[in-house]
Parts: sequence; structure tokens; C-alpha cells
Amino acid sequence: MRSVEWDAGASCLRLIDQRLLPAEFRQVCLHTYEDVAKAIRDMVVRGAPAIGAAAAFGMALAAMRYPARSATALLQHLETEAAPTLKAARPTAVNLAWAVDRVLARARTAVPQGVDAVREAVLDEAQRIADEDVEMNKRMARYGATLIEDGDTIIHHCNTGALATVDWGTALGVIRMAHEQGKRIHVLVDETRPRLQGARLTAWELEQYGIPYDIITDNAAGYFLSRGEVQKVFVGADRVAANGDVANKIGTYMLALAAYDNGVPFYPVVPTSTFDLSLATGREIPIEERDPSEVLDIQYRGRPAMPAGATARNPAFDVTPHRLITAIVTDRGILYPPLDEAIRRVIAAA
Ligand code: MRU
Repeated sequence: MRSVEWDAGASCLRLIDQRLLPAEFRQVCLHTYEDVAKAIRDMVVRGAPAIGAAAAFGMALAAMRYPARSATALLQHLETEAAPTLKAARPTAVNLAWAVDRVLARARTAVPQGVDAVREAVLDEAQRIADEDVEMNKRMARYGATLIEDGDTIIHHCNTGALATVDWGTALGVIRMAHEQGKRIHVLVDETRPRLQGARLTAWELEQYGIPYDIITDNAAGYFLSRGEVQKVFVGADRVAANGDVANKIGTYMLALAAYDNGVPFYPVVPTSTFDLSLATGREIPIEERDPSEVLDIQYRGRPAMPAGATARNPAFDVTPHRLITAIVTDRGILYPPLDEAIRRVIAAA
């Protein structure tokens, strides 16, 4: 089952509600682009490739529901209302804007054929984005799995699996592929405060795949790395700048520092849709700061963990400088430093 799926019978977008896992598995069916934008903001769906695909289907819903008298009017609605609303839902993952722009470009080509042709083209492009995502992930997984040896213990941050993509996953997809190839691996799962994507979602996925794991607190990663208990670190990415700096879930930078200090290879796994060559360095990547309640609203043994008046900061992502990165696994091969040159080459070819 895909985490992002078009339901042709009901003409709606089906998403697994990731806020409820692992306690409850429930799908929601969305009928408007505004609902899709809200689902992205509220993290019903999350993970860079998954929100890109969801936004593409959001554009399809916008095209379908808008009572347009002409193809030009429909295109204008898509360009000036649906696209900006969907793009603004979350700022860091570039896949969101990438997918919306790709759908818009396809819509423009269909305008001469009329309203129905635009609607069909938009839905078809969204479906292509979703299907290609699965294919890209599997290709990346095969490249990435060559880096994993039998007996490896791997640290993984956040959730980058089937839930974070349309299906299969990026960094977790690499781990899953190595497991399916018969390599014995053990995963140390960063719990990933504040929303616990590691403890809730990655652990849930690893259970399904039968891959052995232990959940660790985020602040334990340095301990295991320094004791020589970890052979590799695999993470995903939300946006990669032209020089190879990687924006990913908050905590990735500290993990990369600890890996670097201990000589442990650090590998982001990144589909070509996540590179943003318009940004020279990671400093230019917009970082989402989410509601402090995500940090504050936790309980310790059934009671509020923090004083009633406590305040918090909640950046959702950080940037890992390229100098800490051993190599980037992409759907077009493994890129080694100098990363700027390797990225330019691979994106030009794509
Ligand atoms: O805030 P989230 O859960 O959407 O953040 C997700 C991540 O940071 C992932 O590592 C990234 O999107 C890559 S997932 C294939």
C-alpha cells in the first residue's frame, strides 16, 4: 500500500494519517486542494517526497473541482490560488515546489486542448510523479545497499521509509534493500524529538520488515558512535544546495558531527527531486520553525513534563555542511566529494 495514493473511484487523495501511528492505522480521503495543504501543514503526510506527491495530487483536485469556463481560467486558478497555497504549506522540503511546478508546466501544455485536457494532464502528471518516486527509491536503494556490509550496525534519523515517500523510502529504503539481500544488519533508531518520527514511524516500519533495531534517544547517538558500535549513518534530506550542504530533520547536524569525529561514514540518501541548484549553499535554505507546543506538550509518567509557563523554540530542520558528508546516494549513483562538481554533473544528466 502506498502512503500517498489516488483513489480513482472516489476521486480523492488517500493518505495514511501519520499522526496516529503506531497506535492506529487509518487512511483519510481528501477532496480539495485546501484539505491537502492542511494535511501537509499538520503532518498527516510528511517526508519530502511524500509531501511533493501529495501536493501534485492536490493540484489535480484543484483542477477537478474548479468550475472553469475556459482552460485559461483553469490555468490561472492553478497558478494563482492552488499552487501558492500548496507551496506555502511547508517551506523546507524543495520537493513540494518541485512537484507543483512540474504539474503546472504540464498543465500549460494542455491549455490549447481545453478544460478537460488540462484536468487529465494534471492528474496524469501527479500520477507520474508518484510512480517515478517509487522507481527512484528502488534505484537509490540498490546503489546505497552496496555500501552496507553484513553485520553492520547503522544509525538512522527521523523517518525516511515508505511513509516518508510514496513507497519504499530513501535512507530506510537502502537499509530495507540490504536486509532483503540477506545482509544481517542492526538499526539504532534515533527517536527524533519532538515529533518522534523515529520512535513512532521508523520503528513501526522496521517491525513490518523484520529488521532488528533498538530505539535510542537522540542524545545517545554520540555515545554509540564513540564506542565503535556503529559502522554507518544513513539519513534522508529535505533540500540539498548546489555545494552539497544538506537540510534534514533537526538533529541531523549533531549526528553528522559525531559521526565525523569518530570516523564513521555519513550518507544522506537523496532523490534528484530534492536537489536545489538555485541555492549556492545550505545557508540559503529556508528552515521551518514549528509551533512550540510540539516541544512543550509532552508528558513524563502521565504528568506534564515542563512547568506551565515554559517557552520553547522548535526549528524542524538543520543544515549539515558538505564537509561532514562522506557521499550522497542518489537515484543516479553515489556522489563522492567534491560534491558540488558531482551534483552539477548528475543534475545536468537528469
Ligand atoms: O518533518 P518531517 O517528518 O517531514 O521531516 C522528514 C525528514 O526530515 C526526512 O528525513 C526527509 O524528508 C527525507 S524522507 C525521505
